Amino acid sequence: MSIVSRHVDLATTPQIEDVSETATLAQWPDLAREYQNLIEADDLDSGALRHLGLIPNVLQLLGDVSSSQVLDAGTGTSWLFRHVAPKRAFACDLTRPTELVDGVTFRINDLAALSWPDHEFDVVVASLVLMYCPDLDAALRELRRVTKDKGRLIIALMSPYFYRTGEVQDDGAFTIRRPVDASRAFPLYIAQTVGPLMYFHRSLPQYVNALVRCGWSLTELRDWHINMADYNEETIGKLRERRSRTDLVPMFTFLACSAA
Ligand SMILES: C[S@@+](CC[C@H](N)C(=O)[O-])C[C@H]1O[C@@H](n2cnc3c(N)ncnc32)[C@H](O)[C@@H]1O
Repeated sequence: MSIVSRHVDLATTPQIEDVSETATLAQWPDLAREYQNLIEADDLDSGALRHLGLIPNVLQLLGDVSSSQVLDAGTGTSWLFRHVAPKRAFACDLTRPTELVDGVTFRINDLAALSWPDHEFDVVVASLVLMYCPDLDAALRELRRVTKDKGRLIIALMSPYFYRTGEVQDDGAFTIRRPVDASRAFPLYIAQTVGPLMYFHRSLPQYVNALVRCGWSLTELRDWHINMADYNEETIGKLRERRSRTDLVPMFTFLACSAA
């Protein structure tokens, strides 16, 4: 497998003012395989960060779903359903997973235009997908529409305080290069390899306000910071190139919401 790493210079990456929604959505299908390779690569740390931070937090916030209909929206590899067995499992994405987990009903769907009827699901998950949706309100309204009243939404984001706002230095210090609370769209390579993809940086208040506007109540908000001892133990001797990491800023942010 060949994964090419590119240096990203935040100071010179242009911010895009006028983003074509169609072009943005069209980027993912070509990159799905590369993204899967990335998260499964043994010598990059994406897998370790998912294992240490993403997966445990999503599963904890999800809780017991054995009697629930669950939709994983923007499912990627459909990894969620390797960890939980809901009463019925549904997934959607702009592109079909290369290996869909058995028993999952899958549809090609844009989050902003879901093809399911109203009030179909008890729980909806949106893991690392909303940052790629050009119209956040449209996506959150659609997720609300297909969720039962009193149903739940679990969201995982790359932390808006960390991701593409600055750089981790070799000593673990974090240098902020861009305002953490400004919204902007710009092309990026995930883990400096998969892209270019249009990324929509939004502040935490923007996410929370959009959730409220779209009929969601926030029930829990949590940040996840890397525990450097666990990270080192997980990655030592495995990485082709050590990236500087830090525990000073959160890496992932999780929001649990209920359908108000
Ligand atoms: C960073 S991956 C995350 C995948 C998975 N949820 C995870 O946690 O690993 C983003 C996924 O969202 C999908 N995606 C991006 N924009 C989308 C949209 N508007 N509607 C549905 N899926 C979308 C991409 O095709 C990709 O599979």
